[in-house]
Amino acid sequence: SEVRLIRLFYCCSTSLYASLLSDIRAAEPLITSSCVEQVKVLICKLQEKVSQKDDRKFYLFRALQAHILPLTNVAFNKSGSSFITGSYDRTCKIWDTASGEELHTLEGHRNVVYAIAFNNPYGDKVATGSFDKTCKLWSAETGKCFYTFRGHTAEIVCLAFNPQSTLVATGSMDTMAKLWDVESGKEMSTLAGHFAEIISLSFNTTGDRLVTGSFDHTAILWDVSTGSKVHVLTGHRGEISCVQFNWDCSLIVTASLDKTCKVWDADSGQCLATLLGHNDEVLDVCFNYTGQLIATASADGTSRVFSTETFQCLCQLEGHKGEISKVCFNPQGSRVLTASVDKAARVWCVNTGVCLQVLEGHSDEIFSCAFNYEGDTIITGSKDNTCRIWH
Ligand SMILES: *[C@@H]1O[C@H](CO)[C@@H](O)[C@H](O)[C@H]1NC(C)=O
Ligand SMILES: *[C@@H]1O[C@H](CO)[C@@H](O)[C@H](O)[C@H]1NC(C)=O
Ligand SMILES: *[C@@H]1O[C@H](CO)[C@@H](O)[C@H](O)[C@H]1NC(C)=O
Repeated sequence: SEVRLIRLFYCCSTSLYASLLSDIRAAEPLITSSCVEQVKVLICKLQEKVSQKDDRKFYLFRALQAHILPLTNVAFNKSGSSFITGSYDRTCKIWDTASGEELHTLEGHRNVVYAIAFNNPYGDKVATGSFDKTCKLWSAETGKCFYTFRGHTAEIVCLAFNPQSTLVATGSMDTMAKLWDVESGKEMSTLAGHFAEIISLSFNTTGDRLVTGSFDHTAILWDVSTGSKVHVLTGHRGEISCVQFNWDCSLIVTASLDKTCKVWDADSGQCLATLLGHNDEVLDVCFNYTGQLIATASADGTSRVFSTETFQCLCQLEGHKGEISKVCFNPQGSRVLTASVDKAARVWCVNTGVCLQVLEGHSDEIFSCAFNYEGDTIITGSKDNTCRIWH
């Protein structure tokens, strides 16, 4: 049973599904006549979902006494039926979203578990990166540790699986990124080229490029198979805080402590635009799922939404009473979610910039937040040691 990722993001509600179906069949040899009916049903369901008017409100479902020390990060698996939390208490936990039950505690790190990831879309493995300088690979099903990746000489602060789930990339305060083989547990390559800490990294969707963002003010695009540099993205006047590809990997966005973001052509490495407007450090940035919009989070307490066509700021999300550390879109693209040191998360309308909801209840700073794939569940992780599930 092969898992096949088919990109349907462009099939907006207006696409005629007959032509969509023939496009998919042309591109995907695995879709034979025998499963066409099944694909038809899936497309219909998806189109229904996309065209649904989404005026849902989120309510607190569960507050989980998740850890004995502050949380670092949270992430859903692809279906959203489970999620993971990392913590200063040196563990990562796997949770059942529907019941709020703890499924597994991943124990073994000797310091803060900072970076965490599921190998989505598969969801059968979890990787954890720690201040103990190691990365561990776990079974999401049993909680067993498959491998401990040793080799970094300082804290690991970011990691990602490649889309095929055959490699894990880790980024470290030791200025290096490393690639590890999921099957054998062996180190595949060391990506050396930055002059300061690597804080963020991202694979392109085919997994043959990796981009890393560093405190040395640059981002580097790497060829994954050879471990060599393809482009050095230079121009920022401050540390990079975040780097991301858009979905079709034509663009890269970098956020920086220099108060700006930059958008880069992923092929040529040229800077296409500098996104201005924030009065303080930009701490997080993301594309919407089809890549036409960018949302930013800043220490100035605001978020902004920019167009990747005009590079203009389309709206400003104002209301938080402190630094915003995390920002993301819902998969439908209608909402932006922000997490702030003011102890609240907020849900915003993408088109108007109006704050639709303030998610209150945490008693300390919120470090992380995420939407599930359906866009109907939010999790927030806080310095107050809890995480909250909102439906
Ligand atoms: C998500 O997690 C649940 C619970 O562990 C599991 O049953 C499900 O298969 C996972 N789905 C994906 C797509 O990862
Ligand atoms: C990822 O990068 C490689 C090399 O530039 C390119 O061939 C591939 O098309 C990229 N993937 C996507 C989805 O753009
Ligand atoms: C991304 O933003 C563009 C421009 O507003 C919009 O047309 C598109 O539907 C959005 N896509 C998603 C999936 O969010």
